[in-house]
Amino acid sequence: MSAVTQRLIQAAIDASKSAYAPYSNFHVGAALLLDDGQIVTGSNFENASYGMTLCAETVAIAKANSDGQLRAIREIAVAGGLAGHVGAAAEPITPCGRCRQIIKEVADLTGTDIPVHCAHAGGYETFALSELLPHGFGPASLK
Ligand code: THU
Repeated sequence: MSAVTQRLIQAAIDASKSAYAPYSNFHVGAALLLDDGQIVTGSNFENASYGMTLCAETVAIAKANSDGQLRAIREIAVAGGLAGHVGAAAEPITPCGRCRQIIKEVADLTGTDIPVHCAHAGGYETFALSELLPHGFGPASLK
C-alpha cells in the first residue's frame, strides 16, 4: 500500500469515530484526497427520521464543496464495519447507490475515474468509480 493510500485509509478510519449512528450503530468514515495532498473527512450522520440519514461519503464531498474544493478531489477512502461495531466484516463495504451517484458528479467534473479505497477490518480493496457505477448518469448526460 502506498504511503498516501495508507494515510487516506487511516483518515477514514479515524473519521468513523465521529459517526453519529445511534440507530444502526454502523460507523462509517470517508476521506477525500485533494490534488494538493490535503484530506477532507466525513462520517455518517443519522436521524430519528431514518431515511434522512447522510452517508459518510456524501458528508465529506459536501464539506469539500463548501470549502471550494469539489474539483480538487482525486481519491476516496471509505471505512466501515470495523471491529467493535455492528457489521464488522472481512469484506469491504462499498459506497451505497446514492453515494456512487454523488461520486459520479465529482468524477465527471474532474475527468477522473475516482479510485475508491474500501477498507475493512482485514485490509482494503480499490474500485474505480466506473466499476461501481457503470453506465452512470452524470453532467455529460444533460448536454
Ligand atoms: N452508510 C454510509 O455512511 N456509507 C455507505 O456507503 C453505506 C452506509 C451509513 C448509513 C447508515 O448510517 C449506516 O451506514 C447503516 O446503513
